[in-house]
Amino acid sequence: MTKILITGALGQIGTALTTALNNKYGVQNVIISDIKEDFKSDNKYYKLNILDKTELERIIIEEKITIIYHLAALLSATGEKNPILCWDINMNGTLNILDLSVKHKLFRIFMPSSIAVWGQGINRDNTEQDSVLKPTTMYGVTKVAGEVLANYYFDKYQLDIRGIRYPGIISSETLPGGGTTDYAVEIFYEALKHKKYECFLSEDTMLPMMYMEDCIKATLDLMDAPVENLVHHADFNVAAISFTPKTLAEEIKKHIPEFEITYNPDYRQKIADSWPKSIDDSSARKEWNWNHSYDLAKLTATMINNLKNKV
Ligand code: SER
Repeated sequence: MTKILITGALGQIGTALTTALNNKYGVQNVIISDIKEDFKSDNKYYKLNILDKTELERIIIEEKITIIYHLAALLSATGEKNPILCWDINMNGTLNILDLSVKHKLFRIFMPSSIAVWGQGINRDNTEQDSVLKPTTMYGVTKVAGEVLANYYFDKYQLDIRGIRYPGIISSETLPGGGTTDYAVEIFYEALKHKKYECFLSEDTMLPMMYMEDCIKATLDLMDAPVENLVHHADFNVAAISFTPKTLAEEIKKHIPEFEITYNPDYRQKIADSWPKSIDDSSARKEWNWNHSYDLAKLTATMINNLKNKV
């Protein structure tokens, strides 16, 4: 029987993934955990610090967990403010998951990677699947190490671990926290509330992005793929759309004509400049039939519609 544990379940992706997994497997088969407590959920919840291996093991045993979606992590901007904490949570948290997954013979693990794995020495347009990984942030360092560790655990222990290099994820349910791509969510709240937004990236900073529905589809599709079809494991490039703050603002103006954007780049500009503008996801398309459905126009209309009543 499938019994799922989600770590970091109260974050931006975790909340959407919980809903999707509830629909697929039933709420009684999806256990959620997070270090945060402030939430309302129908799922069984454990307060969990991912560094507490004893508590993690207790949950795995008591709940007879077979699959883990390991989302607990610090993102790029927060990680640059506290690199050692970022290393600790992202690496030691991951090691706890991997070690206990082998020990308790778990069926499958999902562990996201990120566009932050890239840095120096890449083609920024259409960055290839198997390109050089020289990140410039601690978050990126932990994501590269996580990918390498995942492959090691697959080869050495046959642990079926899978992951996607998520681009910036845009959603209306839960706010992202501590990322460099967060502007692309904040901008919608500010456009609806105040009709203006000061962007912390410059107008022509192009980054890969994706609407949450595509992100969840990618995650579930990869987890359902037959293992024999996979050449890659925890490091799939997955692309949907790429845009700049300026093009996003122009699209928002089609719905809110008074909207004004200004630019005041901060320390996050350097992080964004080290990442790809667009990525080549042909391996994901070939190995597990990935394709996206949200373009910029559809994403913008959906975000504004979803947030209209909320803000
Ligand atoms: N959205 C993430 C960040 O900006 C990238 O994985 O840190």
